[in-house]
Amino acid sequence: MKWLITGAAGMVGSDLRQALTLRGETVVALDKSRLDITDSARVHEVISSARPDIIVNCAAWTRVDDAEANEAAANAINGSAVELLARSANDSNAQLVQLSTDFVFDGSKRAPYDINDRTSPLSAYGRSKLLGEHAAAHAKRHLILRTSWLFGKSGPNFVEAIRRQLGKGTNPLRVVNDQRGRPTYTPHLAEALIRVVNGGATGIVHYVDEPECTWYDFACAIVEELGAAVSVTPVSTAEFPRPATRPAYSVLSTERYERMTGVRPESWREGLRQYLSNFEARSSKLE
Ligand SMILES: NC(=O)c1ccc[n+]([C@@H]2O[C@H](COP(=O)([O-])OP(=O)(O)OC[C@H]3O[C@@H](n4cnc5c(N)ncnc54)[C@H](OP(=O)(O)O)[C@@H]3O)[C@@H](O)[C@H]2O)c1
Repeated sequence: MKWLITGAAGMVGSDLRQALTLRGETVVALDKSRLDITDSARVHEVISSARPDIIVNCAAWTRVDDAEANEAAANAINGSAVELLARSANDSNAQLVQLSTDFVFDGSKRAPYDINDRTSPLSAYGRSKLLGEHAAAHAKRHLILRTSWLFGKSGPNFVEAIRRQLGKGTNPLRVVNDQRGRPTYTPHLAEALIRVVNGGATGIVHYVDEPECTWYDFACAIVEELGAAVSVTPVSTAEFPRPATRPAYSVLSTERYERMTGVRPESWREGLRQYLSNFEARSSKLE
């Protein structure tokens, strides 16, 4: 099978490319400089000449807070451009895999969100991603893979944010303890994506690592794994106003994923250990 990845330099795109290459799959991995997904003529030209079996759209506007003041720009990348990909996927008889997010939900539930639960995004980013889900559904064969709280080597993420604070000598760390979700290590997501595509899945699937936790719990785990001598103080979201409203509860249920693959989600704590040990290996090579 031939895979085409857009946004291939991002966190998910780069780990997916690596996972597919290690399996010996044929991969056309295109970063933004090689394929801007908002460029309709280029999308058509690239996809019709590559003729992939599967297009995985890892390109996105992911700056959640900046999207509030730039909703049209976020919609163009996360919404309208997905329509172009869906059209090209249909012309080439390819399957379109669209990455989406827990931010399509409003967080008012207190039990894990199922794939069929009502969407109701609270932020411009969430609305733009929901537009993307609707656009992806125009591809005759499509898979919408929702995930959350990603961390991986090729992008800014929460682990790096904590590490930056430690580097500045911040103590105690103040971290919100009233938002619940499921952190996910991007190599785990890449494996899950390949597994569900190879299993022939269509429609919506949720993949997130387990278990659920708060950002405070996640921060405590990072500090513990790093052996840092700092304390972590739980605070409320109200104490940390941000431009975009986040869902207070955005735990995604992986029930469909587990049923269709027979595999349980990976542990984010294990992913965190791997992430940190790979980082240490990279740093020591640089010394
Ligand atoms: N990060 C999370 O916590 C999270 C959670 C849930 C779902 N997701 C979803 O997962 C997917 C992958 O996210 P990620 O974390 O890997 O994001 P990322 O690291 O920010 O990667 C996104 C990539 O898309 C590129 N891009 C932006 N505009 C583009 C355009 N017009 N054409 C082509 N490429 C473009 C970016 O390039 P530049 O950096 O050069 O702009 C970047 O390399 C996205 O759909 C995101 O919404 C992410």
